[in-house]
Amino acid sequence: MHLRPNLGIDGDRLWSSLMEMAKIGGTPKGGCNRQALTPEDGEARALFRRWCEAAGTTVRIDPLGSMFARREGLEDLPPVLIGSHLDTQPTGGKFDGVLGVMAGLEILRRMEEAGIRTRRPIEVVNWTNEEGCRFAPAMLASAAYAGVLPVEKALDTRDIAGIRFGDALESIGIVPDRPLGGDKIAAYLELHIEQGPILEAEGKEVGLVTSGQGLFWYDAVITGFESHSGSTPMHMRDDALVAAAQLIEALRKIGTEANPPGTATVGQFEVFPNSRNVIPGEVRMTIDMRHPDPAVLRAMDQRFHETVAALQKGRIRIELTQVAATQPLSFDPGMLAMLREEADAMGISHRNIISGAGHDAFHMAKIAPAALIFTPCAGGVSHNEAESIEPHQAEAGANLLMRAALRLADMP
Ligand code: GLV
Ligand code: MN
Ligand code: MN
Repeated sequence: MHLRPNLGIDGDRLWSSLMEMAKIGGTPKGGCNRQALTPEDGEARALFRRWCEAAGTTVRIDPLGSMFARREGLEDLPPVLIGSHLDTQPTGGKFDGVLGVMAGLEILRRMEEAGIRTRRPIEVVNWTNEEGCRFAPAMLASAAYAGVLPVEKALDTRDIAGIRFGDALESIGIVPDRPLGGDKIAAYLELHIEQGPILEAEGKEVGLVTSGQGLFWYDAVITGFESHSGSTPMHMRDDALVAAAQLIEALRKIGTEANPPGTATVGQFEVFPNSRNVIPGEVRMTIDMRHPDPAVLRAMDQRFHETVAALQKGRIRIELTQVAATQPLSFDPGMLAMLREEADAMGISHRNIISGAGHDAFHMAKIAPAALIFTPCAGGVSHNEAESIEPHQAEAGANLLMRAALRLADMP
């Protein structure tokens, strides 16, 4: 109905936007530290807003700070959303999340300069706090958008320094001007790096994500009894750090025995009072367990709880708080078929793939037909400053994203 030239994105411009964004929070080792709601995140948001406005869109912010850059459609219909995140891990790379947002921006720019109008509006979203390293759970804002997490609970989440999410939003000058979710969405698309080695090893340009693994996150506080390291006999100790070490080793076994592709990780750890000659009285640590099969994930969780119970001897106590419980999910078969068709038509090589990482698309899949497209990354390395991709890989993924977005946005 709407005549279109055979249009692709501008790969050089996409790459230069990625490199420009990577300067914000750039680390000496070539990665990024742009954790959610820090001043660096604020700077990235301001740049994203400027770029989106220059591309002729209107940017609105929801109560959790997620940014929606909207290009109006010809008709008053529910929009197609394209999203991912600009926040990073403390020692993150340049592409995790950022590729999806910059590819969305590039689509908006290309549409603007080519004068392309679609029936439906297109919105490019930067979801707040996808990473979950500063505020747990990960994918916090998309969870709330999808109605999975109450907004008050999200706003009251605290980081390790005790700073409230809601206060952090205000501290970088975020002023919401649209409600949280509630609108009907025609479809959701996300482009992301694979963060694993499969596509590179098989020489495929994109992975079409069929399912995502489930994830359980806990905060654990292990309490023991502080006493003098020199005068307390070994058999009279309740050493919180020794109990923590036993729990970590048990988790390594739980993850290994659920393999492939189960995982169990302790990534955050604090010991108190952290003095050379005091038997540790308290340990705080995080637990991350994942598996694509809900029954296996439940069994891993049960073994973990049994281990926790068995370790509580003498004065050792282990207090657990579950901070995330995402069930494994399957992506919409119709959306997958559409992406396969478009990739074939464009001559882009593809394969089906399972997502090991969590993504905002998981929550969006609960409220709209959603799809997640992966592009390769070198050696599968991610959540690492060395994360790297090639410009042609970004371009192929963004071209498929554009073609799918235009097709969906022209649906009656
Ligand atoms: C998000 O990066 C996750 O932890 O999967
Ligand atoms: Mn990500
Ligand atoms: Mn990540």
